[in-house]
Amino acid sequence: MKHLLSAADLTREEAITVLDTAAQLAAAAEQGVGKLPPLRGRTVVNLFFEDSTRTRMSFEAAAKRLSADVINFSAKNSSVSKGESLKDTALTLEAMGADAVVIRHNSSGAPHRLANAGWISGGVINAGDGTHEHPTQALLDAYTLRRHLCADQADLAGVNVTIVGDILHSRVARSNVLLLHILGAKVKLVAPPTLLPIGVETWGCEISYDLDDSIAGSDAVMMLRVQKERMNQSYFPNAHEYSFRYGLTKARMNKMAQHAIVMHPGPMNRGMEISADVADSARSVVVEQVANGVSVRMAVLYLILGGAES
Ligand code: CP
Repeated sequence: MKHLLSAADLTREEAITVLDTAAQLAAAAEQGVGKLPPLRGRTVVNLFFEDSTRTRMSFEAAAKRLSADVINFSAKNSSVSKGESLKDTALTLEAMGADAVVIRHNSSGAPHRLANAGWISGGVINAGDGTHEHPTQALLDAYTLRRHLCADQADLAGVNVTIVGDILHSRVARSNVLLLHILGAKVKLVAPPTLLPIGVETWGCEISYDLDDSIAGSDAVMMLRVQKERMNQSYFPNAHEYSFRYGLTKARMNKMAQHAIVMHPGPMNRGMEISADVADSARSVVVEQVANGVSVRMAVLYLILGGAES
């Protein structure tokens, strides 16, 4: 694996290797092993053109736990604000000897451009590009699902995942649908018709406009943030109406199967797509998703930077 640009880059076997490697790294951390040495002398650059809390911090923690040197780049405090291009930013990183670049960008396709233009020689990891993809979020979600629902199998065959909300603007949904299918899960999408993308019927998912009809048969309900910052028109009447139809409330959660879990990639709009009591409930694995993100991103960095061979 040279780059990770899309969840679709992974075969079933490669995805399972990432999840298994993450499990081994998590086990080492649980046994009190602090820093591991495999990326000593390597440089990882976190190149963030768009805001992030979880992804950026967990990539930084992951790289440091593997003993890599980390350079954090935020477009807001850089020469990008003076008009510097992605190409010149990339050439600067190359001059500094970046072995891997973790990029988040508001333009869909920016990580592909960075990986394929020949500006840098290191690996490129997509940490979220526009409304396109967020493959490491899908991997940490798959890891979390496997831990809770299929402890005795390698993949997610037979697992029913319902993804709810703003599918239209969600890179998390796109990457999750791709990876969940690669790993054998069944995916149902629930959203108002206005928040489903054109062509969604080709994604291989069951589609519903009714959350109440979809809750009981799910092993996991993944709520998505309503991405107001990407909305340039009115997609639903108001926040109250959205919550009434598509919010995960305690009453709805109580209709879920006993074993089923509640997921959210974060950041959450509490009171909008998920109520506070659901977010903080015993069924919510939201905080665990963040913790698993560190292990999964360690695995991705380790595999991309050749740790497995060394
Ligand atoms: N889930 C996720 O990508 O969160 P951040 O935007 O905080 O990185």
